[in-house]
Amino acid sequence: TGPKPLLGRKVIVTSGPTHEPIDPVRYIANRSSGKQGHAIAAALAKLGADVMLISGPVTIADPAGVTVLRVESARDMLAAVEAQLPADIAVMVAAVADWRVAASADQKIKKQPGEAPAPLALTENPDILKTVGHHAQRPRLVVGFAAETENVETNGRAKLERKGADMIVANDVSPENGVMGGDRNRVNIISADGIDVWPDLAKDDVAERLAALIAARFAG
Ligand code: C5P
Repeated sequence: TGPKPLLGRKVIVTSGPTHEPIDPVRYIANRSSGKQGHAIAAALAKLGADVMLISGPVTIADPAGVTVLRVESARDMLAAVEAQLPADIAVMVAAVADWRVAASADQKIKKQPGEAPAPLALTENPDILKTVGHHAQRPRLVVGFAAETENVETNGRAKLERKGADMIVANDVSPENGVMGGDRNRVNIISADGIDVWPDLAKDDVAERLAALIAARFAG
């Protein structure tokens, strides 16, 4: 039912947080629920796309009509994304951890009586969007997100350039907006054409509008 402008098109979507191990039982993570990324994957599938959803650890259900690949860490996510290339479109919604523990322990780190806690040295994770945006097998349309708490437009524009994306969906994730984990989102669409400010919408409605915009941009 409905038009299928993306029929036969392969689309990679990343969603959710990543978990970066400290030791076998502990990890560093963030508050991403995966709701927006999963909704976008479902909306693209409704337009006929062949969607590979590469998801970090989430508690929400797999969306209908998409293939779900589950990963834990940023490095796992990058490997899963690269394994799916070539693709027509990539939409990177995951809240990828910027840093991981430099040397995660093979065994549970034990508390030593009387000793100060060991410091956690961090190292930078690969940037998946940036890698895909500059890839030899770059998808024709690359879309990123930008979770910002200030200067949403300026930061979004800089990100478009730096990451080699065609479109950045910038949202203000200040805690008072309740975006992280919530059901609503207010986004700004930033591209070479300029900025388009969307009203406050349910994440499912953001997903449908974005899927339609992606289909139009891909066709055009
Ligand atoms: O730089 P920043 O994390 O704000 O960029 C956000 C965008 O980049 C999102 O689309 C996110 O999925 C993507 N990203 C990524 N890999 C990273 C960091 C961010 O794909 N390591």
